Amino acid sequence: MSSRPLRLLLIEDSEDDAELLLRELRRCGYELSHTRVETPEELRQALCSNTWDVIITDYALPGFDGLAAFAQVKQRGLDVPFLIVSGKIGEDVAVAAMRAGVHDFVLKDKLGRLGPAVTRELREASLRAERRKMQEQLMLSDRLASLGLLAASVAHEINNPLTSLMMNLDFTQQAPAHRKLNEDEGQALREAFECAERIQQIIRDIKIFSSPEEQQFGPTDLHRVLDSALRMAHNHVFHRALLLKDYGEVPRVHGSEARLGQVFLNLVINAAQAIPDGHRDAHEIRVVTRMDGGAVRVEIHDTGAGIPPELHERIFEPFFTTKRAGEGTGLGLSICRRLVTEMKGSIGVESKPGQGSTFWIRLRAAQEAKVVEAVKAKATGQGLGVLVLDDEVSVGKALKRLLRARHEVVTFDRAQEALAYITSGHRVDVILCDLMMPEMSGPEFHGELERLAPEQARRIIFMTGGAFTEESRAFLSATHTPCMDKPIDVQRLFSMLEALPA
Ligand SMILES: Nc1ncnc2c1ncn2[C@@H]1O[C@H](COP(=O)(O)OP(=O)(O)OP(=O)(O)O)[C@@H](O)[C@H]1O
Ligand SMILES: [Mg+2]
Repeated sequence: MSSRPLRLLLIEDSEDDAELLLRELRRCGYELSHTRVETPEELRQALCSNTWDVIITDYALPGFDGLAAFAQVKQRGLDVPFLIVSGKIGEDVAVAAMRAGVHDFVLKDKLGRLGPAVTRELREASLRAERRKMQEQLMLSDRLASLGLLAASVAHEINNPLTSLMMNLDFTQQAPAHRKLNEDEGQALREAFECAERIQQIIRDIKIFSSPEEQQFGPTDLHRVLDSALRMAHNHVFHRALLLKDYGEVPRVHGSEARLGQVFLNLVINAAQAIPDGHRDAHEIRVVTRMDGGAVRVEIHDTGAGIPPELHERIFEPFFTTKRAGEGTGLGLSICRRLVTEMKGSIGVESKPGQGSTFWIRLRAAQEAKVVEAVKAKATGQGLGVLVLDDEVSVGKALKRLLRARHEVVTFDRAQEALAYITSGHRVDVILCDLMMPEMSGPEFHGELERLAPEQARRIIFMTGGAFTEESRAFLSATHTPCMDKPIDVQRLFSMLEALPA
């Protein structure tokens, strides 16, 4: 039988009895490292200074007894197998001990029972520990899920007013020359705009991380997600290492922002945790993106502790962690591998102890849908006819203000009215349409247009505040209708409109 290491704390005043007991455990295949204590104070110290696999106590010691010892262990919240080994004692005492929660009771003249009892109690304790861990994890992910939901709905609420705010600021900045703002006013506007952009960024980050399981796969902008993850991990990184970005020219990848965001966040936090605190200038975390054959490769390099070769596979197993309780659950990398595999990519590690680590991910380049192609503008020369449909009146107003200098804009806040406008014979080049509206949803509006004026249906660009119903999600991925996030990135909208053939 191969020997199993066992850290044993023994509460026993008789050296001879202790020797018998140790011999018995060694005979059963345990390789012991043990400490023997006799008093409550010695017990307290031993419990403070070490971790123990099992505690065995005599029942009656001078000035101390097995039950008092057990009470001390319990008081510290320890769940370590605790056995009493004793000479003859009354049944009432044995019952009281088991009631108190002592795991087993072995008579000194039946020491042969001790080894199997210890083995059984160790197994039980490890099962209990695993259950606790699972339960904690479940509670944690429950809590994260509801936090995520709350964050997503707050983000959604902020989005509409923020959309109008940004477009109105943008409009004001473009004041015509004869009413030029003075320098102070210009500066104040620029600062207001920067603040709004920061809010926009925070909203985007929240949206990315709040609903990983829900998002559809599609072409995903890697650098935008990486930047989000790096911003989220900022507090872990900045006092430990310099952060370097080495982004190459890469296409969008097949994936989802939420999943990739989780993966990168886990990897960056791991990298930071592998680096000791307080030597910021001596350490770096470097994020590299580049092409690798037809695939896209992301690498996260750190100059931290490194990983011995025999652990390169094990670290991806659920619950494998080298971190202290409370610091790591060991789920990070197993989640990363699951998410990356879902995106049909692969993940691995290269590392040597003492020389840092590189985690790499290979992802498929996305099959790009021909986004704006369907929206073919007529030869207007003077700009496009734009129809804006959004139940939030301020969004329509702000878009109109912003676009009307170059384009012909009509706005509606009810889908029925927009439909009536088109069925009465009007034609437009672009329809900017909110995805989620109370009376008729974006996809429903699209469906109606398909029926009434199919050529107009192909001119829709949806706008979304981030909340998706299952139907709208399925609809977008099935029809490849272009969709822009709110707040609208004005530059992107302008270039989308300008890219339309005249
Ligand atoms: N960049 C790294 N450098 C050194 N060791 C690492 C690195 N990344 C991961 N590891 C090792 O892999 C183990 C497993 O990582 P994983 O992310 O799965 O769990 P964790 O970080 O321990 O806990 P969790 O992510 O659940 O908080 C870590 O405990 C650590 O030993
Ligand atoms: Mg981790």
